[in-house]
Amino acid sequence: MEDRYTARNIWLYSIPLDNNLFHQPIVTQGRVHVGATNGPVMSDHRIAILPGDGTGREVAVEAQRILETIEAHTNHGFEQNVISCGGQHYLETGEEWPEGSFEYCRDDVDAIFLGAIGHPGATLPNGDLAGGSVILGMRSGLDLYANVRPIKLYEGVPHKVHGKFTQIWEPGMVDMTILRENTEGLYHSLLRRCADRALGRDLYEPPEMTFPGLEGEVAYDPRPISEKGTERLVRMGFDIAETRNGAPGDGVKRVSCIDKSNVTRGCQLFRRTFDKVAANYPGTECDYGYIDAFMQWITRNPEHYDVVVSSNLFGDIATDLGAVLQGGMGMAASGNIGDEHAFFEPVHGSAPKHAGLNKVNPIASINSIQLMLEWLGRRNGIDELVSIAGLIDDSVAEHLRNGNALTYDLGGDASCSFVGESIANRLATKLSEL
Ligand code: IPM
Ligand code: MN
Repeated sequence: MEDRYTARNIWLYSIPLDNNLFHQPIVTQGRVHVGATNGPVMSDHRIAILPGDGTGREVAVEAQRILETIEAHTNHGFEQNVISCGGQHYLETGEEWPEGSFEYCRDDVDAIFLGAIGHPGATLPNGDLAGGSVILGMRSGLDLYANVRPIKLYEGVPHKVHGKFTQIWEPGMVDMTILRENTEGLYHSLLRRCADRALGRDLYEPPEMTFPGLEGEVAYDPRPISEKGTERLVRMGFDIAETRNGAPGDGVKRVSCIDKSNVTRGCQLFRRTFDKVAANYPGTECDYGYIDAFMQWITRNPEHYDVVVSSNLFGDIATDLGAVLQGGMGMAASGNIGDEHAFFEPVHGSAPKHAGLNKVNPIASINSIQLMLEWLGRRNGIDELVSIAGLIDDSVAEHLRNGNALTYDLGGDASCSFVGESIANRLATKLSEL
């Protein structure tokens, strides 16, 4: 097999988790400071915080609280820079984010957190989503080719069906990671236009096409799928499988290729490329499914799934259904990850009708910070950050198991900030016990 299928990937740098390392001097790439409050060395991580629209602004505060808690109890400092952006910002100022923001996120930060983009009535003159330069512009412009969306059901999380809260899926039987291709597919034209706007380039328009048999006005979106784009996504999927414990049902390391290769040429290339990459990972089982059938299997046999790779729109849709298995969108975290950059965001979006009420679930955002720290840790070889990510997970699990302070989406009436503070306090305790 050609070398290009075995190229470097950040997820391969598996790090032994050893909490004792917390108190050893740390050397990160570049910024290392002596004279920290809580030990001999402090490493700074510069984080852009993009709260965006609606409830994104509330959950961003809880994401920040987690970073502040870590800063207060470890030698890791986070320089947080908040950038106003999104559809509402566009309506108020005429720009999607301040000039230079894209370059700042590209050149000057270690990682990015995004709350949500989308405000009612906020569209650009050409009909594109206002704020698209932020979310889609970064996905395309920073080449964040994998949208990594873990789906895990914690103990104590009920499922809301028919307006009632019941336990449908079993905790321990839902623990998969879906990788959605993030730079091409059906989103390609819009992604390019958004990146063009962010970078000040002329806006891309797909070539004019005619469609035999169709009359009158026709709108269309090309769906290009490339071998390269697929290969790097699939490779990251197999690499992530190396860091996991296999599918919850049988413990088998498995990567599932979900496509519609019985119908589309793009999906045929996707599957062929999947097979080429898979040949480099003989210890991992390959699995295949069509996206329509997958919608049934993910609900009936979620325990079969370990890592799933799919194209852009299929992954977008599948992960909203996947979120139902983990208690809803309020629980769904994500990372938009490339080889050089990454941003982390809750999947739920701006939920305008709940905005400003301090009621939405902050866990999707808190777990997005968990993903950020894991990524930063693996990328820079800072095992403490990977361990801290694990402690965030433990704090969330403990809070949910305790079960008496849940937000409305999980059947409770606790506020966003109350849940955020409770998890941050648990994290603080764990960090100070180290
Ligand atoms: C998501 C969202 C976005 C998408 C929207 C806001 C453009 O649904 O992150 O899943 O479709 O990718
Ligand atoms: Mn979506």
